[in-house]
Amino acid sequence: MRNCKWYVVLALATALLFPHGIVARDFPMHTGARQSTESPSLGEKRTPASKESSLADLVIYQIYPRSFKDSTGDGVGDLRGIIEELDYLQELGINAIWFSPFFTSPQGDHGYDVSDYYDISPEYGTMVDFDELMEEMHARDMKMILDLPLNHTSIEHPWFKDSASSKDNAKRDWYIWRDGKKPNGKAPPNNWKAIPGGSAWRYFKNTDQWVYFHFLPFQPDLNYRNPEVKEAMFNVLQFWLNKGVDGFRLDILHAIYEDEQLRDDSFSWAVLPSDKTTASLFTAHQYDLNLPETYDFAMELREIVDEYQPERFLLGEVFGSIEELRKYYGPENNGLQSVFLFEFTSAPFKPGKYAEILGRIEEALPPPYMPTYVLSNHDRVRFISRLRNNLDKAKIAATMQLTLRGVPIIYYGEEIGMPNSAFKLSTSQDPIGRKYTWVPRFLCKWLKLSLTRDGCRTPMQWSDKPTAGFSPNSHVKTWLKISDTYREINVAKEREDPSSILNCYKRLLKIRKDNVALQAGSFALQELDKLRGKCLAYRRIHEEQTVFIYLNFSKDKVRLKCPIERPTLLFSTSADRVGLDSSDGTLRLGPFEGIIFEKQ
Ligand code: GLC
Repeated sequence: MRNCKWYVVLALATALLFPHGIVARDFPMHTGARQSTESPSLGEKRTPASKESSLADLVIYQIYPRSFKDSTGDGVGDLRGIIEELDYLQELGINAIWFSPFFTSPQGDHGYDVSDYYDISPEYGTMVDFDELMEEMHARDMKMILDLPLNHTSIEHPWFKDSASSKDNAKRDWYIWRDGKKPNGKAPPNNWKAIPGGSAWRYFKNTDQWVYFHFLPFQPDLNYRNPEVKEAMFNVLQFWLNKGVDGFRLDILHAIYEDEQLRDDSFSWAVLPSDKTTASLFTAHQYDLNLPETYDFAMELREIVDEYQPERFLLGEVFGSIEELRKYYGPENNGLQSVFLFEFTSAPFKPGKYAEILGRIEEALPPPYMPTYVLSNHDRVRFISRLRNNLDKAKIAATMQLTLRGVPIIYYGEEIGMPNSAFKLSTSQDPIGRKYTWVPRFLCKWLKLSLTRDGCRTPMQWSDKPTAGFSPNSHVKTWLKISDTYREINVAKEREDPSSILNCYKRLLKIRKDNVALQAGSFALQELDKLRGKCLAYRRIHEEQTVFIYLNFSKDKVRLKCPIERPTLLFSTSADRVGLDSSDGTLRLGPFEGIIFEKQ
């Protein structure tokens, strides 16, 4: 029923009110209502254990540098601020950090519009700070993953300035320039749509041609059919690899190549972006996304990183069906080591739904393929806000995320239960928010659309001191307003409380590290019969150990058949639980309780 509401309302709203399109795939929004909630068959299908890989035990923490810690007092986070908090991250138990981009940039899209790939944007620090950050991370056995927007540059990049200057400039072909359509070239070259909506072409009067951009009009796409472009970008990768970085998160990699003939995309009935297909905003996107050349490109990137030891990591931000995503791993696992799997960010909080997603992922990406599990990021509504700030539910989600086979990615602040904030579109720092200032507030509220990404990017809440301990300057206006929740939700307070979500994350990460089955074991869903609507259960199986994970997603107490005799408790989301009594052959879980146990 809700499906219908979304579809009809959005089809009407989009078609009638927003002739230029409405939302970006990467938009934070509630899309859960569009997902099926069918229960899967919780069979006994097992996947074999992973091959040993130096990357199998990665636990990645995503830092949005503007928002993590300000060391200079200007209200913007920076690299030295991050260095100050590395001990906190080590204590938390993560072993890799993905940094949203801090390369030189006019910050039109807060770093996703690079104007120099070889330097650090001054608001974040200098190359000396970068070197120190990397050294300090490596001293703590943490891997450094840089975020590389390869698909496009900033309009301020010297390559683009040259390219735009005249039709016969040597760099003209580094970007995708075309004549407009008749009459008089005043219409864009084809019907391609940018992801945040509207035509994907921008007109430049000086040369009377249009340039292609997949995202925002100040982020022109590079032309990877030109070998010079490829070489220039491969040099960028090598520069950072030679400095010692451990891997890259590859921004919208699925958009690298476009159809050479620029054929029009077909019409699609898809309205909103989803995590299962690239079709959206009534466009199929078959000619501008996920081209075969792009899958090959993933393998070329792998060849570059494979020249380095120890193993370097490539993590693709790509969208499409699971079959399309699978292609980025390469036919022989010789492409990217992993891609983001975003379904949890929008799926309803239901065990049956999660079991169905997990079954599908395990089938498409059996070992040694590595899935990733993401609950939130800098483009999406924070997970805990989707759960109406219910900490018990958030602990269940964390237990699931940190015990699955694959790489978990924790978004900064998720570990303390930081919620999304509400921001006005008119003062949005996010350019997408500013694009939609004219959308009536009531409509956003009614449709639960978040048209600015500011809400999930607020400064980290370190303490209940002014600026939440984010900046040393207690009077500074931080780049985004700090969430009003900071007096209650902050690191200092939660550190002291054994039952806090922060301590739940720490215990989980320690258990993951100490138990080989949780790092390298295979995955098998556990049959639950009648309780499958309330609970999710699975095992992680390794030759040395089998670990069981039982999660109660309901507010009721539940009694489940115990799968083994004499289970030993490894963890419970409830910090008060002391042991597991299964003497009558059953396990009793409290409301929203998750437990991890093994055979004695
Ligand atoms: C990716 C990033 C997003 C950025 C966009 C354009 O989706 O996650 O933040 O705006 O690409 O680079």
